[in-house]
Amino acid sequence: PAAVIVAIDGPSGTGKSSTSKAVAAKLGLSYLDTGAQYRAITWWMLNNGIDVADPVAIADAAGKPVIVSGTDPSAPTITVDGIDASGPIRTQEVTSKVSAVSAVPEVRTLITELQRSIAKGAALGIVVEGRDIGTTVLPDADLKIFLTASPEARAARRSGELKGADVSATREALLKRDAADSSRKTSPLAKADDAVEVDTSDLTLDQVIECVVTLVEGKR
Ligand code: C5P
Repeated sequence: PAAVIVAIDGPSGTGKSSTSKAVAAKLGLSYLDTGAQYRAITWWMLNNGIDVADPVAIADAAGKPVIVSGTDPSAPTITVDGIDASGPIRTQEVTSKVSAVSAVPEVRTLITELQRSIAKGAALGIVVEGRDIGTTVLPDADLKIFLTASPEARAARRSGELKGADVSATREALLKRDAADSSRKTSPLAKADDAVEVDTSDLTLDQVIECVVTLVEGKR
């Protein structure tokens, strides 16, 4: 079959990563976690003394780190200047600062180019997850999915992943990050007009995977 490009967008805690990885693995496609790239650049900025409250400083430094994403859905990796950053990009510090860094247009331009070249290089096709994949990065994707879920379902999932973190604090942090991501000027979190919206609040992960696999198969 021809290479199929799948864009999966939505707010945090809707099941984007688990769904995207499983769908890619099932269908033999590559996988790209674009949030990990924004986290990686944020991690580099924090390590290199860049003031992440200063968009000019962020823009000036944006081209410095070399970010490489592995696209195997069973073992996705990310390196920054050759160093494995898979663990450190998930810290609360990075999570709380990433929206400020990802809102800077120079950062988005660089990372968007990187994402397009990775998608182009995926011979069999790719599942790309993020916030602006269907609207901006890959507007010609074969299939666009927009995952949603109630704030309660999202907070419950996220605090489960964080092993017992306080649900209401998790909920507040998550809503704050989504509000920032949705209200920024440059390619905000948004559903593309031609995306299929799937509300995952009352679905199991397996049901969401099944639903997306069926939609992809319909496009091949
Ligand atoms: O998906 P994840 O929660 O790891 O994304 C981290 C952050 O990266 C988001 O909160 C958002 O600020 C940014 N992001 C983005 N565009 C994407 C993917 C992620 O701005 N396509």
